[in-house]
Amino acid sequence: MKLYFSPSSPFARKVRIAAQELGLAPRIEAQTVSLTPVNPDEGVRTHNPLGKIPALLADDGTVLYDSRVICEYLDALAGGGRLFPPAGPRRWTALRRQALADGMMDAAVLVRYERALRPQPHQWQSWADGQLLKVRTALDALEQEKLDGPFDIGAISIVCALGYLDFRFQDEGWRRSRPGLASWQAAIGARPSVAQSVPSA
Ligand code: BEZ
Repeated sequence: MKLYFSPSSPFARKVRIAAQELGLAPRIEAQTVSLTPVNPDEGVRTHNPLGKIPALLADDGTVLYDSRVICEYLDALAGGGRLFPPAGPRRWTALRRQALADGMMDAAVLVRYERALRPQPHQWQSWADGQLLKVRTALDALEQEKLDGPFDIGAISIVCALGYLDFRFQDEGWRRSRPGLASWQAAIGARPSVAQSVPSA
């Protein structure tokens, strides 16, 4: 299998962590790509019409995207039910947490693009504030959750969202009013799959 990814993409990190947790990392050839919405990668676009990473080229030629689909595919390849619990309360919680964390990453990445790519005179502070409000509200909701369950797709997604904030939004100081979430992240950070995939430029 071939994974198109970037070491700075929080969505690609979900896939890298899932692959390692499932013991599938040795079967995946990682192809690093560098792209943004204003500097697309033609190679990626031949596989994913949206031009986005992560994209996975499976051994049978199937192409899969986005991170949600790829992670569920890898889970099935490893026998199923490990990162995506079977239908029932644990599954709905894991999927809801994935949706929450993916939404945080979507909002944070949009702000990152706004600040890093949009010419300064065109930057829209109120819009960025609206995106960051989503992130902060989601962090507050996570602080209220009991996260000490299995390391499933919900937990993987949350760890990637928090890692992206540490990588691109250090000024946010998200830990200040969220001590429970901070200690959960510190404990989970010891897992090799998490420690070995810390975002880098
Ligand atoms: C980033 O460098 O912040 C980034 C890269 C790929 C996808 C999303 C964000």
